Amino acid sequence: MKRSEDEKPGEAPRATTEFDWRDCWYPVAFCADLPAGRPLAFTLHDEPYVLFRDALGRLCCLEDRCPHRMARLSSGRVVDGHIECGYHGWQFGGDGGCLHIPQWPPDQALPQRACVPTRAAVELQGLAWVWAGDPQAARPAEIPAIERLDEPGVTHVDYMTDLPYDQGYLIENVIDVAHIHIAHDGVRGGGFRHLALPLAFNVLDDSPRGIKAEYRTLAAQRDPARSPLASAVVEFRAPGLVHYTSNYRDPSRIAGLALYGLPLGRGRCRLLYRKYSNFYSWRESFKPRWLEHWTQNTILRQDMDLIVGQYAATERSGKELRELWLPLKSCDQLVIRYRKWLDRHAPPGQPYRGFATHVAAIEPGTAAAPAPAPNTYTLHTRQCATCTRAYQRARRLRGLLIGALALFLLPVAMMASTDAARVLAFAIYVAGLAAVAGLRAFERRFE
Ligand code: FES
Repeated sequence: MKRSEDEKPGEAPRATTEFDWRDCWYPVAFCADLPAGRPLAFTLHDEPYVLFRDALGRLCCLEDRCPHRMARLSSGRVVDGHIECGYHGWQFGGDGGCLHIPQWPPDQALPQRACVPTRAAVELQGLAWVWAGDPQAARPAEIPAIERLDEPGVTHVDYMTDLPYDQGYLIENVIDVAHIHIAHDGVRGGGFRHLALPLAFNVLDDSPRGIKAEYRTLAAQRDPARSPLASAVVEFRAPGLVHYTSNYRDPSRIAGLALYGLPLGRGRCRLLYRKYSNFYSWRESFKPRWLEHWTQNTILRQDMDLIVGQYAATERSGKELRELWLPLKSCDQLVIRYRKWLDRHAPPGQPYRGFATHVAAIEPGTAAAPAPAPNTYTLHTRQCATCTRAYQRARRLRGLLIGALALFLLPVAMMASTDAARVLAFAIYVAGLAAVAGLRAFERRFE
């Protein structure tokens, strides 16, 4: 643990009294991606939880440990709205109470201690939210809902991925306006190198609940008449939301981007990305969700390749960011403010990286080289309902096609009695092979 200069040896790390990392809501997944009739495992600051729906369709969250012998409840199944441990079949309700033990004498009451601690879980704006602290203290009014999403005509596109670094690096990445036009140059939904210009931030809020700033690029300041945007606002709301709103000169236009970071644990986080607007073109509304996800996978992969290296080098250095960085006062202002916010509101007992203090996620000097970033299937596809479906359908179709080519078309082509029939059969066979190759290329986009 490193300390800032004004901290004295023996003092506890920076106080977190003004922001409580347990008494707040965390978005776990988009409801559209919750597995139907099955439990969903997730972690929050390395603590395992399981999410499932009860018989009335309500979200329930329990600690992911069976009180019998500590097996993970998420490895079991959901039976009539109860979660059943896969090891010996004990069943629990959404309130954590034990409802059934197959091996228990039917004429005796179930043991009272056989219950599982719960967390409050709520569904709002298509997201599954979990309150990390005492469920009795959960305050649904404090969910950081986005009011503009409820405006008439506003539609949104959702995307979720896991990432191999701490939540702080994700927040630093998505609050950093300056990187977009360089790191994502020429990518659809990214930026353009020639627009990487100085930025001027007007900070509107820097408090325990987060940071908020309005900004305009130098180009928009010099030539406001040609810019459809009057300004944009970027806001970090603790514990993990970064929200961009675009202020158009035409006040009827609404657009924004909500990026929720979930601290899964040491060296792992989850990004829930939501792009919204009230002026998407008709093409956007017909675009398959998986096609949009390909774009997001590309953009996130570009960020990830950079951040995995930054993360390993920073964490193993043993130094503070204020010693390691050479920041620009203008463009890097928000990134520094966020890291200083972490100095003041460090998550207790967790690795974090402030500007002048930190708790290391990696022991200094231990990681010789950054580990290769996990693949797209692990990070995104397997937990995205849409991409899983598209991927499995392509695999099934390819299997059927290979079977048909091998069992029918090739023998037919070889046994055809006339030249014309042979040519036609071979042409169909070659087209079939091309379709197999095309499907395989399609599948690779999800792997
Ligand atoms: Fe869960 Fe035995 S460990 S029922």
